[in-house]
Amino acid sequence: MKRFVGRSTCRAVSNSGTMHSVKEACAVNRRIRSSQQGGKILRRLQQDDRVEQMKQFMQHGKVTTFDHCIHVAKISRWLDHRLHLHSNQHVLLSGAMLHDFFLYDWHHDDNGTHRWHGFSHADTAARNVRTFFGKDPRVEHVIRSHMWPLNLTHLPRSREAWIVCVADKLAAIQETLFRR
Ligand SMILES: [Fe+2]
Ligand SMILES: [Fe+2]
Repeated sequence: MKRFVGRSTCRAVSNSGTMHSVKEACAVNRRIRSSQQGGKILRRLQQDDRVEQMKQFMQHGKVTTFDHCIHVAKISRWLDHRLHLHSNQHVLLSGAMLHDFFLYDWHHDDNGTHRWHGFSHADTAARNVRTFFGKDPRVEHVIRSHMWPLNLTHLPRSREAWIVCVADKLAAIQETLFRR
């Protein structure tokens, strides 16, 4: 499927000129809009000075927290697309890109301040997001629950939260094993 005509009527025409069903064309147009919207959300966040602060901190191996968050956002998008989950792109990608927005290097002990990093950083990131970007309970929930099951009481309760929780684990395994 190469060419789309009349966005509002969701008509799609294939290479051979065959008309596809309105339902199919609508689904394709929805996917394209969602992908364009997702790209804009990610670009805006990646260019934000506050988000760029994550470039200063290491996450796994040679991967900065910033690059780790981009990795998680890419896997989240892929899962959402491949599994046809139709997530809210703002909630999914803001949650993914900001899930580790805790803004310190957890490898440094800092007199024991980061001893409980594994348990506490999701809350710290959610608080930072609220301070810098304003309150958004759906995004905060994605961030707070991304460490489940380590943070046992923060069970993911939305599809966006589940996607980011899984994507974070996949990214962490890949970064820890192959990008040292
Ligand atoms: Fe995390
Ligand atoms: Fe993470």
